[in-house]
This record gives sequence, structure tokens and C-alpha cells, in this order.
Amino acid sequence: MHKVLVTGGAGFIGSNFVRHLLEVHSEVRVVNLDALTYAGSLENLRDLPHSERYTFVQGDICDRAHNEKLLDEHEIDTIVHFAAESHVDRSIDGPGAFMETNIRGTFELLEAARSRWLQEAGAARGKRFHHVSTDEVYGSLEPAEPAFHEERAYSPNSPYSASKAASDHIVRAYGHTYGLPFTMSNCSNNYGPYQFPEKLVPLTIVNALAGRRLPVYGDGQQVRDWLYVVDHCQAIIDIIESGKNGETYNVGGNNQPTNLEIIKSICAILDEIRPQEGRREELIEFVKDRPGHDRRYAMNIDKIAADLDWQPSYSLERGLRATVQWYLQSESWLAAVSKRSDYQTWITRNYKNR
Ligand code: NAD
Ligand code: DAU
Repeated sequence: MHKVLVTGGAGFIGSNFVRHLLEVHSEVRVVNLDALTYAGSLENLRDLPHSERYTFVQGDICDRAHNEKLLDEHEIDTIVHFAAESHVDRSIDGPGAFMETNIRGTFELLEAARSRWLQEAGAARGKRFHHVSTDEVYGSLEPAEPAFHEERAYSPNSPYSASKAASDHIVRAYGHTYGLPFTMSNCSNNYGPYQFPEKLVPLTIVNALAGRRLPVYGDGQQVRDWLYVVDHCQAIIDIIESGKNGETYNVGGNNQPTNLEIIKSICAILDEIRPQEGRREELIEFVKDRPGHDRRYAMNIDKIAADLDWQPSYSLERGLRATVQWYLQSESWLAAVSKRSDYQTWITRNYKNR
């Protein structure tokens, strides 16, 4: 991994990945291709360390000719593909953008890699397409079912997870049919710095600080497997460096609280660090459930632990504390984000329609 094209590097996980990669690899050069949709922001990359090895390019992964130009101009040997529409609720409100970016965008990126990396014999040597995917492609678990392992049949339930499942299949087909060198990671729910406050953890922190209600969908007993974002970034680096061509690795946090438990944990941390009159969990309000809401996810991470010696390094308690601290110390980031019209639209929707 020397010259890396990161797609979606201005989003939540992508921006954490760019930071982490530049920090742990002193030789690597990074080109960040991002369309800067509502979810992407250059604020996420402000004060980037080692920025002399970093280039930002605004563009759409659906533009194949542009993808090809970037692979040529920057002599890219590794693609780390994060760019996607990522929010399940938005996929229910408007699935079109998810089909376009997650399916067609991945296809156009693969076509660019095929035309630039696979035309001459031996040209694929040293190349790698790493596809970043999700545990949601496996569907939902019953309470007593064992955690998802890599061999589990896909059974996606939302337009978001169906679009990600489609992209996973297309990546695998390019490996099988054309010999494109690839790896894939399917990861559980991430939380940490720079996450847009439409997802559960940052939404809870930001609303609790503002004294707004904390919406809990349905009965709040749904279970997610939470992973601190930097642990996910390190897992991706380990897979690219030591993972086997054509393999998929599950990545998860080894903890599965209910949504209600995680919201209460965040409230307790905030009450401790920034005390006020009254407990913040009193802001909790049960609202209409998400249509088709998956009940439970849990990841079996035996394969990545055994093959690559990767384990999550943050406990949920430590990761949540670090995250709450980051939001408390990031007033200018928060001010920039909350001025954006998408955020205002989201907050309004959350109040009126649920
Ligand atoms: P995000 O929504 O925060 O960021 C997505 C980024 O992609 C944004 O910067 C956006 O501008 C960019 N983008 C969107 N459409 C684009 C296009 N057509 N061309 C170029 N750039 C485009 O997402 P995230 O939460 O950081 O997730 C990143 C990836 O990780 C996604 O593929 C997602 O499916 C996967 N994933 C996320 C989680 C999670 O908990 N957030 C867990 C597992 C996997
Ligand atoms: O599992 C991995 C996935 O995790 C990623 O692939 C997705 O990109 C990412 O968005 C995330 O999906 P979820 O739907 O699990 O995340 P979200 O933060 O939207 O919701 C987490 C849980 O909390 C879910 O059960 C819905 C619930 N929820 C969410 C919000 C925003 C609430 O109860 N209230 C809320 O206000």
C-alpha cells in the first residue's frame, strides 16, 4: 500500500481512516475522492496531520472517466472504498440515491480498476481493491441465534442494506471473473469523532446537550454491536496488509447493548462530566418504530482475530467516554455542522414525523 485512493474520505469513517492511515504509515500517499454530499465535510479533515502526503479531489464515484483519470494520474495501487449513502432511515425515505451511489458507483469504480489494473498480464500485481461493507447485509438475528459469521447467507432487509449487499456481490464477481485483487470487510455499528448527528450515538449526545428529546424507536430493545471507529480503521489496514486476496472479514466490537442501554450510558457520562439539574435520561421519548427495523446484529470476529491478530482495543465504556469528550471539545465543528440545512431538516423531521 503506497498510493491509496480513499473514496468517501470526507465522511465519518473515511475521515477517521485518512487521519489514522497518515499517522501510522509514514510513506503512504492518500488521494481522497469525495462528492461532499450532506454527509461529507471538509471540516472533518481540518488540521490533518501529514497533509503534505494528502490530496483532496471533489468528484462522484459514478463518473468512470474521472475514476480512471485519478488512477492514472496518481499511480494508485490501493483503493479503499467507503463512499456510500449510509443512513438506513434516509434509505427508507428515498432509496434512489442508495441504488445510484452504492450499486452503480461501486460498479463504475470497479470498471475503472478493471480498465487500469487488468489490461496487461501481471499489471494486477501489488494492486488491491478493498470494499468497506456492513453487518446489515446478513439481516436480523433472533435473540438466541449465534453471531453472524462470514459464511452466513445474505438476507438484507432495508434499501440501504440491499444496496450494500448488491455492491458486495459485484465486487466478489470482479474478483472471480476478472481476477481483480480484492478484500472486503463487513463491520458493525461504528461510533466516534466526526459522525454526523443523524446516527444514534452523536444524535443522543447533541440532543442531550441541547436539552432536546432523545427519540427511541419502538421499544428500544434492538441490539447493535458497537465498535469505536479507530478500531475499524486499524482492522481495514490489517486486512489490506495481511489479509488474503478474495477474502471477507467480519469486524465487530464484541459488545451488544440494547439501544435503550446505550442511550442511558451516554446520558450518565454526560451527567458526570457536565452536571446539570435533573438527569438527562429524562429526555428519552419512545417514538414510532423504523419500518422493517432489524432487531439484532452481532458479529463473530473469530476469523480476523485468528488470521490477522486483530481485536477491538476500546471497550464500549472507554469508547463512549472518548466520543462524548470529543463532542464536548468540538464546538466549532458542531457549530459548522448544525448550521447546515441538512441537519436542520433532519432535526425537524425527527421532531415532527416520529
Ligand atoms: P458517511 O455517510 O458518514 O460518509 C459517506 C461519504 O461518502 C461522505 O463523505 C459522502 O460525501 C461520500 N459520498 C456519498 N456519495 C458519493 C459519491 N457518489 N461519490 C463520492 N463520494 C460520495 O458514511 P460512513 O458512516 O462513514 O460509512 C462509510 C462506509 O462504511 C459506507 O460504505 C458504509 O456502508 C460503511 N459502514 C458504515 C458503518 C457505520 O456504522 N457508519 C458500519 C459498517 C460499514
Ligand atoms: O450495522 C452497521 C450499520 O450501522 C451501518 O452499515 C450503517 O451505515 C449505520 O448507519 C448503522 O446503521 P443503524 O441503522 O444500526 O444505525 P443508526 O445510528 O441509524 O441506529 C442505531 C439503532 O438506534 C437502530 O436500531 C435505530 C435506533 N435509533 C436510531 C436513531 C437515529 C433510535 O432508536 N433513535 C434514533 O433517533
